[in-house]
Amino acid sequence: MIAPSRARRVWTALDARLALHNFLYEVPAYANTLPYVLGAITLIGLVILVGTGILLGQFYAPDPSVANQSIRTIITQVPAGEVIRGIHIWTAHLTMIVLVLHVMRVYATGAYRFPREANWVVGVALLATMLALFFTGAVLRWDQEAIEALEHNVEFAALLGVFGGWFSPAFSSHVPLLTRLYMAHVGLLPLVLFMLLVAHVYLVRQHGISPHLTRTEPAGAHYTFAHHLKKAVGYGCIMLGLGLALSVVFPSGEGPAPVAGIEVTKPPWIFLPLYGLENLFGLQGLWGAPVFFLWLLAVPFLDRGRAPGWKGRRRALAAGAAVLAVLIGLGLYAWRRQPVAHLH
Ligand code: HEM
Repeated sequence: MIAPSRARRVWTALDARLALHNFLYEVPAYANTLPYVLGAITLIGLVILVGTGILLGQFYAPDPSVANQSIRTIITQVPAGEVIRGIHIWTAHLTMIVLVLHVMRVYATGAYRFPREANWVVGVALLATMLALFFTGAVLRWDQEAIEALEHNVEFAALLGVFGGWFSPAFSSHVPLLTRLYMAHVGLLPLVLFMLLVAHVYLVRQHGISPHLTRTEPAGAHYTFAHHLKKAVGYGCIMLGLGLALSVVFPSGEGPAPVAGIEVTKPPWIFLPLYGLENLFGLQGLWGAPVFFLWLLAVPFLDRGRAPGWKGRRRALAAGAAVLAVLIGLGLYAWRRQPVAHLH
């Protein structure tokens, strides 16, 4: 009798204890194509962000009087600090790009339709949480762009009245808003994100991946979730490599120390459509964000079509393309314009 290989013995021992065979369930071949791996790549991006974020948290001081200086210290004095911070920042951008592509794939293929409406709603909450993480992260740099972003938020919170109270510097007389945003960035928001992710992945597992719009499964081809995971880890490594390369080629500076009361910067790319709305309608333009999210939430309830294939997607695709065109148009308009004062 041939003795089982060492790898086989290790697998058997681990499987007996951790029931790893539960991850070997079958998935369709198309689930391993890039459009269907985007969600898993987003997850890997989050792992990179948590790892690098924990390292940065050891050296960042969330106090307005020293925050910007502590970033300078991370860049100049902490071993590999500049690269670790660069990977964190660039991976945040890359993860947001992959996330947007994931939402576009789910929307285009109508994967929000019955029985996945609830998971779409969980997804919308995930998107809001990811944007909040991106926003609070950018504010932590405590440079000119950060303080202007925060001032916009404080003004918008004032428009929300009692619901925006948490954003008011007066909410806590002895803990600065920056310190509370830091708490949100490293504690509250990751906790909310984690709970939403558990629900999201649980629902994906319960419903299985949505059927392909046109493709029928090739007979005899068997793929397991392990294949899917391997693909995702491969793309995740590419993302880490890209983050590393970008952080070396385009290092993120610490930005100038902030001056309150002036408006000379523009927000990161993902918030540019909102900035464009502010250019057009003043602070009231920020209501565009809740309107966009209400539309996203309504998508599975507005599109009740069940027709198979791409034909059944015509109207929904036209609506999605129109929304995307407006977002891109507003973003380009804001990108080309000089910074504009909205507050003063
Ligand atoms: C941190 C953010 C997110 C992560 C990590 C994530 C992760 C995943 C993963 C791993 C899948 C399995 C299939 C795939 O990769 O395409 C998936 C499916 C899904 N996601 Fe997300 N997702 C996120 C955000 C969102 C958002 C913002 C939405 C919608 C607004 C959304 C809606 C869905 C839906 C409806 C499915 C089921 C798709 C199907 O069965 O074809 N997700 N997600």
